[in-house]
Amino acid sequence: MSTSGRIGSWSEYQRAYQLSIADPEAFWAAEADRFTWKRKWNRVLEWDFKKPEVKWFIGGELNITENCLDRHLEQNGDRIALIWEPNEPKEEVIGISYRELHERVCRYANVLKRNGVKKGDRVAIYMPMIPDLVVGVLACARIGAIHSVVFCGFSARSLADRIIDAQAVAVLCSDGMHRGAKAMSVKDVVDEALTHCPSVKHCIVSQRTGDAVPMTVGRDVWLHAELKHVDANCPAEAMDSEDPLFILYTSGSTGMPKGVVHSSGGYMVFAEYSFRNVFQYKKDEVFFCTADVGWITGHSYMAYGPLLAGATQVMFEGVPTYPDAGRFWSIVDKHKVNIFYTAPTAIRSLMAHGLDHVSPHSLSSLRVLGTVGEPINEEAWHWYKQHIGKGKCPIVDTWWQTETGGILISSLAGVTDEKPSYAAYPLPGIQPVLLTADGKEILENEVEGLLCIKFPWPSILRTTWGDHERCRQTYFSSYPGYYFTGDGAKRDADGRYRIIGRVDDVINVSGHRFGTAEIESAINESEWVVESAVVGYPHNIKGQGIYAYVIAEKEITDAEIARKDIIASVVKVIGPIAKPDKIQFVSGLPKTRSGKIMRRILRKVAENELGSLGDTSTLLDPAVVEEIKTGRL
Ligand code: PRX
Repeated sequence: MSTSGRIGSWSEYQRAYQLSIADPEAFWAAEADRFTWKRKWNRVLEWDFKKPEVKWFIGGELNITENCLDRHLEQNGDRIALIWEPNEPKEEVIGISYRELHERVCRYANVLKRNGVKKGDRVAIYMPMIPDLVVGVLACARIGAIHSVVFCGFSARSLADRIIDAQAVAVLCSDGMHRGAKAMSVKDVVDEALTHCPSVKHCIVSQRTGDAVPMTVGRDVWLHAELKHVDANCPAEAMDSEDPLFILYTSGSTGMPKGVVHSSGGYMVFAEYSFRNVFQYKKDEVFFCTADVGWITGHSYMAYGPLLAGATQVMFEGVPTYPDAGRFWSIVDKHKVNIFYTAPTAIRSLMAHGLDHVSPHSLSSLRVLGTVGEPINEEAWHWYKQHIGKGKCPIVDTWWQTETGGILISSLAGVTDEKPSYAAYPLPGIQPVLLTADGKEILENEVEGLLCIKFPWPSILRTTWGDHERCRQTYFSSYPGYYFTGDGAKRDADGRYRIIGRVDDVINVSGHRFGTAEIESAINESEWVVESAVVGYPHNIKGQGIYAYVIAEKEITDAEIARKDIIASVVKVIGPIAKPDKIQFVSGLPKTRSGKIMRRILRKVAENELGSLGDTSTLLDPAVVEEIKTGRL
């Protein structure tokens, strides 16, 4: 390994990988040693996937913000930590040094304390991509409060569900937000949510749009007013390595989204390790991850990973198509971005806008490109490589999940080789396996199977908030002894992995996860609907689109009115990001005699694979299939 701590060659990767398998504890202890611990751990790892229980760096105490901020101050305090690029290209960019960020985090942390927030309390954060979002996240971590960031596009109902599940005592939000050509209220959504959330005693509001918003006396305070009463000294709370750092809600195949819980110590070590090695970040480079902090990518590769590594990064408030589809590329040139990390959906959509939006930009600062969140098709991969990377930038296709906390399978930029549409090799410390449907490990190469991981890594989820049994059932019970990812994958002759997609009832829309059951229950709230079934289908831009089959309550005289009402219902219950792309009205759904919906058939129809529906004779009402085929949208 080079002195930079980065794996620098294929042989170093192989050596690191072998060591990490032969002696995982020694391997991760050496990595953990790079950080500031308030108290050193006495045991590295205890684990049992049956319970499940995983503990890393047992007995160790730390505060992640000391590692993100304090430890950089002496030598690199003046280095820019965050370059904030506002929605409007003409608005002033804000550069925040590590020293300033440290001060802002300490002050915000003191505001939290002033408002009664204590170690172990849950704090919901519902904010657009403004610096206070990162500051608020770190302020929670500073005092040991558990943050639960909710993506600012979710509805009031979704926000309320998440607040109630976590019993959050405070909400951090803004007055409003700018997104492309639109300005939207944020506080109104929070106010609506809070009518259902008696656990919330305080709401701290950042100013962004300057709009007048109603403030509930005794509950709501303006951050800028509160900051006048606090100083910049806030010692970092000592956290046990296994204390929860945050909760992040994510969808699964059943029920309401679950609160994935990440730990303090293990998460820190892996977020930084994966950032350093996958992107091969070099001192003074500028990193730009386009993900919102409302998703796991924004947690691990904006709020935490880059700051842990002392990096300079861009935080972008707006959308890729405003004021035009060249916005990302103009940001890359403006801030001389070296490493650019985005989702395949964004690449496909910008590709569809044409090269006229790319060619005015030099893009010469770029050194590494990354993708995350969904499979990238070869066409988009080549476009990205050729037109954005000018043929010279390695692409890292990073596979991971909310539950894994950090990147598990990816090439290391320019170090291990790349192959379009393959995430490629596991990071050191990661032991993926492919299983057959009946749970047998497939040892050969050039195979396909269910992707599981057979050994813990430091940032594996610890539980699902308030319901450990759900964690066990979802991830550790289908194939005992393994963590089951929910993904299917292929392995090529050289051991590279290619992720095919979910094998459960989860749809990945533009890199965002939704459970079919979750969308169905939102659709069913429309007065037009008796029953519905939702499946994913291939979508040129979004990866997967949402196809809903709906049995209507009454005769539909105007299908458009009914469709609008169904969409409004989804927007109200979940948010605009889960709107169905297609809604087909049907008189019945293909069900087995025991009443189970045969989604396989619905999926095939949505995919337009009408010739391969399989045997439909065992259905309760085989005729319904013909009707569904004929009415396909
Ligand atoms: O299906 C896989 C897909 O996204 C799922 C995880 O979603 P989420 O928890 O929202 O996290 C997304 C950001 C890490 C996975 O189960 N996925 C993620 N990355 C890739 C991917 N599919 C293919 N290739 C990837 N690189």
